[in-house]
Amino acid sequence: MKVRALAGVALLTTMTLTGSPATAGAPTTAAPAHPTAPQQATGLRAVADRAGLRIGTAVDMNALADDAPYRAAVAREFSTVTAENVMKWESTEPQRGVHDWAAADRLIDFARANRQKVRGHTLVWHNQNPAWVNERDLTPAQLRAVLRQHIIDEVTHFKGRVWHWDVVNEVFNDDGTWRDTIWLRNLGQGYVADAFRWAHQADPQAKLFLNDYNNEGVSAKSDAYYALVKQLKAAGVPVHGYGVQGHLAVQYGVPGDTLTNLRRFERLGLQTAFTEVDVRMPLPADPIKVQAQAQGFTALLQACLLADRCVSYTLWGFTDRYSWVPGVFDGEGSATPLDENLTPKPAYAALRDTLAIAAR
Ligand code: G3I
Repeated sequence: MKVRALAGVALLTTMTLTGSPATAGAPTTAAPAHPTAPQQATGLRAVADRAGLRIGTAVDMNALADDAPYRAAVAREFSTVTAENVMKWESTEPQRGVHDWAAADRLIDFARANRQKVRGHTLVWHNQNPAWVNERDLTPAQLRAVLRQHIIDEVTHFKGRVWHWDVVNEVFNDDGTWRDTIWLRNLGQGYVADAFRWAHQADPQAKLFLNDYNNEGVSAKSDAYYALVKQLKAAGVPVHGYGVQGHLAVQYGVPGDTLTNLRRFERLGLQTAFTEVDVRMPLPADPIKVQAQAQGFTALLQACLLADRCVSYTLWGFTDRYSWVPGVFDGEGSATPLDENLTPKPAYAALRDTLAIAAR
C-alpha cells in the first residue's frame, strides 16, 4: 500500500556513501556531518521499500565489474536495475544468429544475488541496432522476420528473470507524429502491436512497457501515446505499462501536470513507471541549479508516489562518474544524484527524504 499524500520535504542534508562489495544488507553511511545526528540505516532502497516503491538505476556493466564502490552502491541503494546498454540488440546479437548474452547475464546474476528486479531495456528502438539490421541488405519482409526472431530469442532467453520490458522505445516525435524509423518505414504502425504480442508470447509473465522521453506531462506526445494505448487495448494487445524516461534539465523546468498524465494512463488499466530519470544542467553547477535539480528529481518522485499504479522510479545512472549526459549535451552535465566521487548531492537527500515522508 503506498502513501497517497506527502506532507512536505525534510531539510536537505549531504553525506558520503562508502561501502564494500555487494551485499544486500542494511545501507551503511559514513559518520554523519554532525556527530550528534542519530545514526540510522539509510539508503534509497531501504526507504523506498518502506514506501512501497521500487527504486532503481541503469547499470554500466564495465563499472559494475571494475569499480567496487560503484558496485556496492548499486547493491545498497537500489531494488531494481536496468541494463544501460547490454540488453540492446547491438550487444545481444552483433552478428546475425550469433548471440552474446554474457554481459546481460552478469546483470541478471548480480540482481539475483542482491534481491533486485530487472527492467529489460530495450527490444525495439531506432538506435543501437546491430549493423546487419539495415534497409540496404534486408527487405521489409526480412526486417519483420528478424525483428520477430530477435524479440522471441531475447525475451525467451531472459524468461522469468526480467520483471519489465521496455518493448518499444521512442515511437513518437514531440509533436505527436510517428517517428520516422526503420521499423515504421518497413513494417508500418503495426510494428508496435506486433512487438508486444511477440514479447508476450515469449514471456507471458513479464510486464510490457512503452517508453519515451518528453512524455511526462500532458502534451501532443503523450496524447499520441494515450490514443495508441487505447487502440492497443481495444485490439487486445498485451501492453501493461507507460514508461516515462524523465530526462530533465534545470533550464527547462518540470511539467506541472505529470500526475494528471500518469493518472489518465492508469485509468486505461496501465501501470506507470519513471524509467530513466536524470536532471542535467549547464555547467558549471551553482547553488540555484543544484537546488532546481533536487526539485526536479523530487517532482517526478512525488508524482510517482501520488499516482495509484506507479510501480518504479529508475535513475539513468546514479553518479556523474559514468553519466551519458556530457557526451551528448555539450557544456551540460552533473545530471545525477551523486557526483564523480560518489558523494551525494542535495538531490540524493531530497529523494531519500521524500521517500521517508511517503514511508511514514
Ligand atoms: O560499445 C562501444 C565501444 O566498443 C566503443 O569503443 C565506444 C566508443 O565508440 O562506443 C561504445 O558504444 C557506446 C554505447 O553507449 C555503449 O557504451 C556508444 O558509442 C554510445 O553512443 C552509447 O550511448 C548510449 C546511448 O543510449 C545510445 O543512444 C548511452 O550509454 C545510454 O545511456 C543511452 O541511453 C538511452 C536509452 O537507452 C534510451 N533513452 C535515452 C537514453 C539516453 O540517450
